[in-house]
Amino acid sequence: MSTKPIGIFDSGLGGTSIWKEIHSLLPKESTIYLADSKHAPYGERTQEEILQLSIKNTEYLIQRGCKIIVVACNTATTNAIDYLRENYDHPFIGIEPAIKPAALNSKTGVVGVLATRGTLTSSLFTKTSALYAKDRKVMEQFGDGLVPLIENGKINSAEMKELLHKYVDPMVKADIDYLVLGCTHYPYLVPQLKKILPESVTIIDSGYAVAKQTKAVLEKLDLLKLNDTPPKNLFYTNKDVTLLKSLMKDYEDIANFSFLEF
Ligand code: DGL
Repeated sequence: MSTKPIGIFDSGLGGTSIWKEIHSLLPKESTIYLADSKHAPYGERTQEEILQLSIKNTEYLIQRGCKIIVVACNTATTNAIDYLRENYDHPFIGIEPAIKPAALNSKTGVVGVLATRGTLTSSLFTKTSALYAKDRKVMEQFGDGLVPLIENGKINSAEMKELLHKYVDPMVKADIDYLVLGCTHYPYLVPQLKKILPESVTIIDSGYAVAKQTKAVLEKLDLLKLNDTPPKNLFYTNKDVTLLKSLMKDYEDIANFSFLEF
């Protein structure tokens, strides 16, 4: 058993959607969350830049004594997790677009994937898509501009609505029945997406799967925190603490938020 924290990082605010899934499954665990908002969006950076930023975040979390690292970012996972696993002894949990369940369950044979440019152009995504969705039509859409709007507190803006229409209207026309959200920021867009999409479209993301996998790996390595000492949940951002807090408002009594230069 281990009382050390779970380390979680993202290019910014999106990974808080993963933190919520992890906390709901593992409420006794302490966590350290790193929001690298200063360098968002990762999805429009080169693979080398994404790798260097992922290394920096990982090393900080390891230095803070984290027992496992959750890469709560599809873009960082698809571009950097192989390197991280090869170069650090810690266990890593990554997140990838949930193309497998969408392809398996689709009745219309058409699925939409909304993810960052960095994720959709990665070789890991291309491989996964070829493996699980070869007999499906997969409509891939770069979500350019969505992460910056979320990072600037504009989730409910007219610009957001316009961009979402532009990205998903063609998918609806093509008769998708699954929309895969392949970026951890996008679960915050579900209320708007539901207004745009017909009821026949199921929206899926990988958040719960990541939490389940985190629990399974901690169990297997005998690293779960089994005692009832109150857990500490520390959140660090290198940009706007207020914005981070606003997405975490239901958890303010159990979490601590601070600005950190990194
Ligand atoms: N949350 C990140 C992801 O899941 C967003 C990437 C970005 O910063 O562009 O891909």
